[in-house]
Amino acid sequence: MKTSPAIKIAPSILSADFSRLGEQVLEAAEGGADYIHVDVMDGRFVPNLTVGPEVVRAIRPWTDVPLDVHMMVIEPERFAARFAEAGADIVTVHAEACTHLHKTVRLIAEAGARPGVAINPATPVSAVEEIIGAVDQVLVMSVDPGFGGQSFIEGSVDKIRRVRALIDGRGVDVDLEVDGGISAETAGRAAGAGANVLVAGSAVFNDSAAVADAIARIRAAAAQGSRP
Ligand code: DX5
Ligand code: ZN
Repeated sequence: MKTSPAIKIAPSILSADFSRLGEQVLEAAEGGADYIHVDVMDGRFVPNLTVGPEVVRAIRPWTDVPLDVHMMVIEPERFAARFAEAGADIVTVHAEACTHLHKTVRLIAEAGARPGVAINPATPVSAVEEIIGAVDQVLVMSVDPGFGGQSFIEGSVDKIRRVRALIDGRGVDVDLEVDGGISAETAGRAAGAGANVLVAGSAVFNDSAAVADAIARIRAAAAQGSRP
């Protein structure tokens, strides 16, 4: 039987306190984060604006935990290499935002980062079929991107299952990340369907629990769900 890959938890700093971002990154890293997820929004691909490469450069010295940059940006090829140069370990672009996805993925790898490809809730799994051999990560959005704190779209569970089948069927070494509405309530279903990287923003950075405790709860819920 194929063993499921270890679950990674990727706290999204979108819900962190930006006035003390470095400390929040450190808190997540010391609290057991496997990646730090950085949401980059351009006000065009999504109706919100966030951060650029200089913020990645600024948080880089705070931790050795890999920085997982999620570009919600039209024509990401214009900026992707700059994120890699600023210290991103993984740079994920949206399939919907790239005219020449293959070229963009290659550009990210040449710039020294691991490339990922993301798909929105309404984008079919077939959008990643031809690129899956050239990326290190597929990101399934389980909300419409743009904001933290939205509810998990339940249909994502079946979609994750189909992407997992595609990855396993091809026999490629590709991580399957899920992003949006992940909490201790939903992590089990996402992991059970085959996701092995779970992004969580508002469920990690909030006033009701310490960052380390929130990460531990999500990890425990995911482990429960990924049990055969
Ligand atoms: C949404 C972003 C997410 C966001 C998730 O557009 O891509 O990474 O931070 O936030 P939660 O976990 O609160 O849904
Ligand atoms: Zn994200």
